[in-house]
Amino acid sequence: MNEKVEKYIKEMFSSNREVMSNPTCYVYDLEEITRRIEEIKRFKLNNVSLYYAMKANPNMDVIRHVLSHDTVSGIEIASVGELNIARRSGLDSDLRVLFTGPGKTPIELREVIRSKIRFINVESVVEAIRINNIAENEGIDVVDVLLRVNIDYFLDGASEYMAGMSTKMGIDQSRFFEDYEIISKLKHIKVCGFHVFAADGVLDYEVLLKYTDFVFKFVKEAELIVGKVNVIDFGGGFGIDYTKAGRTFDTKAYFEGLDTLMRKYSFEDKEFILELGKYIVGSAGYYATRIVDIKECKGMKHIVTAGGVNHMRLPIATDRKHPVYIIKMGIPKLYEKQIEVSNETVDIEGPLCMTEDKISWDEKIQSASIGDIVVLTQSGAYCYSASTLWFLSHQLPLELILI
Ligand SMILES: Cc1ncc(COP(=O)(O)O)c(C=O)c1O
Repeated sequence: MNEKVEKYIKEMFSSNREVMSNPTCYVYDLEEITRRIEEIKRFKLNNVSLYYAMKANPNMDVIRHVLSHDTVSGIEIASVGELNIARRSGLDSDLRVLFTGPGKTPIELREVIRSKIRFINVESVVEAIRINNIAENEGIDVVDVLLRVNIDYFLDGASEYMAGMSTKMGIDQSRFFEDYEIISKLKHIKVCGFHVFAADGVLDYEVLLKYTDFVFKFVKEAELIVGKVNVIDFGGGFGIDYTKAGRTFDTKAYFEGLDTLMRKYSFEDKEFILELGKYIVGSAGYYATRIVDIKECKGMKHIVTAGGVNHMRLPIATDRKHPVYIIKMGIPKLYEKQIEVSNETVDIEGPLCMTEDKISWDEKIQSASIGDIVVLTQSGAYCYSASTLWFLSHQLPLELILI
């Protein structure tokens, strides 16, 4: 684990009053976020725009920090609630916002149409008709949209799939031309391009490039009917490594490959949008929680921590473990025979009254005692906000910002 972060967590759990009374927290390392954005800046092509998918981590300080980089063109939101957080975090213009999501309500649509965001990513004919009706009622001439298409391509090698199979996202490619005929007649809708986000958590850049090739072929074909479009929104998908092997997404090779594809299809004049979440903030986050008990039961040891799936649901929900580290705190034993862990395989579980409350499992631990801190790294994306925070009404984890 990063030494600076380890030292900070140890200090917080030793001397910070708030952490000592509520011993679970997320730590976000802003320097790491900067490193990720700088990496994109170094290699990205001129026609690529980077947006932050704030669903990955809607912490205000994190959003503010992400937006402080010129490389970031704006924010991708999935609700008006996110839009309001982004505004409170200092977003200077709604024109820097893209809105995606399969169940936008008419009220949400009216809000973003009135405030004139950059693009609404339209997911169905119904949604397009609603947007058109709202624009008509509001006296708004034109709403710029991208059409989200569920492309007929299964991009093998991701951790979660949004498309390439039967899902609720976007318009199925097989229906696209039929649906487009209806959409094209809506006088307040301007189709500026396509949105094709298909999968999350792809570590191998070649997998994304193969999918991009397929997408570009679709766009070429679609342009024969739709006319020339200026924007292809690829969505997110750059993965991070959840093992201790520390593999990274090869950003340089990815953009080199993308450049080749742009030339192959003569798409250099189109804007290619990336809406990245996990890649920007995933490796910057740490979940830390104190060990409150260690038990031995029917031949196996259980480490019980102050926080569980109420704070960190994703590992068990997606059957994907995070790297685990133990910070030794040297807390005296309560009694002589108090159980400790020494070079053993254990489960690490929270305080909830359900056995699936595990933040890690089958984990080989060198040494752990009551009072030590369990740290799960790679916890900056889809962790805090994707947890069952109110279940059993425990305190919420603190969110600490490491500058
Ligand atoms: C529409 C959309 N864009 C972007 C993202 C961000 O994806 P990632 O975190 O994999 O970069 C998501 C994630 O679910 C999404 O639904």
